[in-house]
Formats: sequence, C-alpha cells, structure tokens
Amino acid sequence: MNRIAIIADIHANLFALESVISDLEERDVDEVIVAGDLVGRGPQGSDVVHRIDELQWPCVRGNHEDYLLSFCRRNVPDNWLVDEQWAASRWMARELDEEAIEFIDALPFSLHSKRCPEIQVFHGSPNSHTEGLGHWTPDDRLEELLELIDGSVLVCAHTHRPLHYQGERGMIVNTGSVGLPFNGDWRAQYTILEGQQGDWDITFRRVEYPRQRLLDHYEQSGFLEEGKVTARLLARELRAARPFLVPFLKWAELSDHEPTSESLEPFLEVYDAQESMSTFFERLRELQNRRAPS
Ligand SMILES: [Fe+2]
Ligand SMILES: [Fe+2]
Repeated sequence: MNRIAIIADIHANLFALESVISDLEERDVDEVIVAGDLVGRGPQGSDVVHRIDELQWPCVRGNHEDYLLSFCRRNVPDNWLVDEQWAASRWMARELDEEAIEFIDALPFSLHSKRCPEIQVFHGSPNSHTEGLGHWTPDDRLEELLELIDGSVLVCAHTHRPLHYQGERGMIVNTGSVGLPFNGDWRAQYTILEGQQGDWDITFRRVEYPRQRLLDHYEQSGFLEEGKVTARLLARELRAARPFLVPFLKWAELSDHEPTSESLEPFLEVYDAQESMSTFFERLRELQNRRAPS
C-alpha cells in the first residue's frame, strides 16, 4: 500500500502551507509532490519556496513560476513595468530572493512519482501548464490527455478546484489549491492517493489555517497598498474562495474600463462571485450586445 500526497497552488501563502505540513505529519504519507504555482498571487513567495526546498519535496513548474520569472528578468512588455494592473506582480517579483528565483527556475514541466511511477504530475495538463482540467472539460478531451501520459494516473492542479475523473484509459486527479481555493471553501486543500497499481482511493483533504494572519501580513508587508487593485482583488479571493481577479480583468476589457482601483466599485456592482466565470462572461457579452449600436 502506498500513500502519495499532492499539494499545489500554494500561491505564496505560508500560513496555509504550514497547516498542510502539520496535517501531513499525521497522515503517514510515503511521498509528497508539489504540482506548481508555489509563488504568485500572494506576498510570501520566498518563504514558501525556502520551506519546500528545505523539505525536499519534488515540484513541477506552474505558470506563475514562469510569470514571475519574466518580471524578475524584466522580460515583459514595457507597460507591465509601469501600469497599475501589474503593480502586484512587480511587488511579488521584487520579494523573491536569489535562492527562490534559482529554485523555481530549475523546476521541470512534469515528473513521475518516485514510489509509484504510474503517477505523472503536471501543473495544468500534459499539453500546457495553463490548460485547466475541471468538470467543464469534455470526457473526450480528458481521454485524449490520458493517452499522452506515460502511466495511468494523471495528476494536475491550476484550476484551484479539485476533480476526480475515472476514465477508460486511467484516472485524472486535480488536487485543488492550498493557498487560494476557488471552490467556495477557503480552507487549504490537497489530495492523498492511497493504493497501488491501477487501484487508488482518493481523499480530498481540507485544512483550516489562520487566514486572518495572512490578511494582516498583506497590510504589514505593504503588499495590499503597493499591489493596488490586484492585491485588493486577491484579498477578496482569499475571503470568498472564489475568483475575482480574472473576472475583473475580463470585465474591464469588455466594458472599456481601465483595470485600476477606480474601476473596482463599478465591477463589484455587476459581479456575482457565486456565479461561474463562464456564466458571468456570457452575461457581460449579452450586456455589450444590447448596448452596441445596431
Ligand atoms: Fe494557481
Ligand atoms: Fe496555475
């Protein structure tokens, strides 16, 4: 019998990570694998990276690792270095120390469990670290992706929403998010796979952590003030365990608003965090169509 834990999408939230580490100490697992997005969307990037490095847990690379590395190297469009929309990213990139940068820069796209090599871990999908697999992904696509892996258990993350799919060619597990869940439950979430070749039980764990201490750290570290509109939206995501940032950016684009602090109030008037993102975007498009001159 093997017990493999998968944690992901920690998003620079050391308080949530520490609670998961304590929870794992009682679960007697054989291996812990980190499925990417250690950093980004939060203020404690360096601390999270150092903690994972210290534990020597194998990690794959998330899109937020790449994203912050681009900022660290100023390898981004010129306006990203000045516009308010990117202030939080500039803050988070500055917060990463040299060791943390080196660590995330060395992460691979994918890896296999050492103990049970039939388990292959990605951040998004075998195709891309920004492809999110969720209940909205058609079975045909999931089967196609299972065909691409070298093994029979595809483990992923990125959507911040847990998923378990038992298919014809194997199994897909999306582990959910430690530091910034979007499934309406703010607790730190991760997964334990227990079993052996072709026969696995999946347990989705949810662990409370001192979330207010992270929100206090948002203020004390200067992240909330200097990260401007993005940091304020991230604080809302933490409280509601629902997405705010991507819907805000999409709304701003579709309704011709600048993605700045002044636009936050009008956005909050139209956004319903309980609605799925696709329903919100559909509603926005309908509104746009009604307003557009015929
Ligand atoms: Fe993420
Ligand atoms: Fe991601």
